[in-house]
Amino acid sequence: MKTPSASRAEARPARALVWDAPVRVFHWLMVLSFFVAWISAESERWQLVHVTAGYTMAGLVAFRLLWGVVGTRHARFTDFVRGPSAVLRYLRSLFGPRPEHHTGHNPAGALAVLALLALTLATTAAGWATYNDVGGEWLEEAHEVLANTMMLVVVVHIVAVVASSLLHRENLVAAMVSGRKPVPAEEGIRRAWRGLAAAMLVAVLSFWALQWQAAPQGGMVAGQAATAEHDEDD
Ligand code: HEM
Ligand code: HEM
Repeated sequence: MKTPSASRAEARPARALVWDAPVRVFHWLMVLSFFVAWISAESERWQLVHVTAGYTMAGLVAFRLLWGVVGTRHARFTDFVRGPSAVLRYLRSLFGPRPEHHTGHNPAGALAVLALLALTLATTAAGWATYNDVGGEWLEEAHEVLANTMMLVVVVHIVAVVASSLLHRENLVAAMVSGRKPVPAEEGIRRAWRGLAAAMLVAVLSFWALQWQAAPQGGMVAGQAATAEHDEDD
C-alpha cells in the first residue's frame, strides 16, 4: 500500500539542479544593477550610484564570460550557443505539436543572453568614456542608444521567459531562484558552487562600500562636482 507521502512524491517529479549558485547570483545582481542604473541615469545627484551600478554589471559580465568557459554544464557557452538553423528549428517547433524542450537555455533564449552580455560591455564602455571625457561627444549619444537597445532586449527577454514558461508549463523564474528544474537527474549538475557565489556577493558588496566611502560626503556628489568645474571653465 502506498503511503500518502509516497504518492505525493510521485505526483511531484524529482527536481535536478540545473543553474549553479554563481549563475543565479550573477543573474539577480544584473537585474538589480540594471534597474538601479536605469532609474539613476538622468540625475546628476545620483551619478555615482549610476556609475557604480554600471561597473557592477561590467564586472559581473566579465565573471560570466569566464564561467561560460570553465563553469558547470548548463552555464557553459558550448551547452547553449547554437547556429541560426538551430534557432529557426526551435522557433518553428513552437508552432508544432511537440515544442522542443531544452534543460538549459533554448537556442532563441541564448541569443538574448549573448546580446545582453555584449550590450552590457558596450554600454558600460561608452558610459565610462563619457564619464571620463575620453573620446568625442558621440560616445554620450552611443551610450544612450546602447542603453535603450538594452532595455528593449530586456523587455523581449522577460516576455519570452513568461511565454516559454507557459508553453512548456515550467516556471523558469522559479528555476532561476532555486536552480532546480523537473528534469531527470542525469540532466542536472552535481555541484552548486555556493562558496563561489558567496565570494561574488562579498566582492560586489565590498565594491559598493568602497564607492560609498569614496563619494564626497555632504551635499555635493561627484557628478555635481564635475559639472561645477565645467561651469567654472565656461
Ligand atoms: C525581472 C526581470 C527579469 C526576469 C524575471 C528574468 C528572468 C530570467 C530567467 C527565468 C532566465 C533563465 C532563462 C532560461 O531558463 O533559459 C534568465 C536568464 C538570463 N537573464 Fe534574465 N530576467 C530578468 C531581467 C534580466 C536583466 C535586466 C538582464 C540583464 C541586463 C538579464 C539577463 C539575463 C542573462 C544574461 C541570462 C542568462 C543567465 C546565465 O546563463 O547566466 N535578465 N532571466
Ligand atoms: C549597463 C549599464 C548602464 C546603463 C543601462 C546606463 C544607462 C544610461 C542612460 C539611459 C543614460 C541617459 C540618461 C539621459 O537620458 O540623459 C545614461 C547617462 C549617463 N551614463 Fe550610463 N548607463 C550604464 C552604465 C554607465 C557607466 C558604467 C558609466 C560610467 C562609468 C555611465 C555614465 C553615464 C553618464 C556620465 C551619463 C550622462 C551622460 C549625459 O550627460 O547625458 N553609465 N546612462
